[in-house]
Amino acid sequence: MQHLMSPLDFSVEELDKLLTLANDIEHNPQKYAHACEGKKLATCFYEASTRTRLSFEAAMLNLGGSVLGFSSADSSSASKGESVSDTIRVISCYADICAMRHPKEGAPLVASQRSSIPVINAGDGGHQHPTQTLTDLLTIRSLKGRLDNLTIGLCGDLKFGRTVHSLIHALIRYPHIRFVLISPEELRVPSYIREDVLEKNYIPFQEVERLEDAMSELDILYMTRVQRERFFNEDDYVRMKDFYILNRKKMSLAKEDMIVMHPLPRVNEISVEVDDDPRAAYFKQAQYGVYVRMALILTLLEVNVC
Ligand code: CP
Repeated sequence: MQHLMSPLDFSVEELDKLLTLANDIEHNPQKYAHACEGKKLATCFYEASTRTRLSFEAAMLNLGGSVLGFSSADSSSASKGESVSDTIRVISCYADICAMRHPKEGAPLVASQRSSIPVINAGDGGHQHPTQTLTDLLTIRSLKGRLDNLTIGLCGDLKFGRTVHSLIHALIRYPHIRFVLISPEELRVPSYIREDVLEKNYIPFQEVERLEDAMSELDILYMTRVQRERFFNEDDYVRMKDFYILNRKKMSLAKEDMIVMHPLPRVNEISVEVDDDPRAAYFKQAQYGVYVRMALILTLLEVNVC
């Protein structure tokens, strides 16, 4: 039985197979409409979500399966003190696969160790968000036609943004990847990512503060929201929250085929005037999230569709 805790749980070859399956699902949805009939997905979300929870649910419904679950810790028996380990043992009696989001780093891993069904990490604290990374990889491969030879600008809250941490881990496995890390001093990537992931693997990267200084060289601009829920101090959040606002003027500095990605939700960091720019890919990205989660469910449940 396979779980998904980190994007590195899949080899590059396995990822390629998963993304190819997601593309086939995109183009032939009817072929997969009954693939999970009789199967149930539990969505156990101890932290708020729109895209991840609902795209998982849409994915299972598109496959002909059913969904059950809870959308906050308050509406589950976690509010009475039940542990994640006990919860997953119970959920294992009710469902065939579980997607779990938790504010504590490592909670889905603990669950996976006590589970008799596949567990998917749907985001754990500031640590990892592997299914967002699968979504991002599918978006990049579909819109840019490759996952190598890319200069990627990661902009915003690189300290607390788990999507950024997961994406860096995943992309360094492809040749000729270069990062431009665009953040204020206080929100730079954690040193373990800089030293143990980028430097150790000889991945070229540059750290800059001004978005304008990076725009012209990027193939992909990956914007992120300042993660209010991870700040200890509201004043620090208020000071940082509008540090970057991508607008039409800044977009005029970018390549014609650059794409703008964002895991969403957005707050102020991308002006709505950018939404109509053909390079804005963030709503398409949310759609790709459904296809890749369908592919993931099929893969972890070992369902083959001919
Ligand atoms: N991208 C993402 O994880 O969005 P949600 O928090 O709405 O699930």
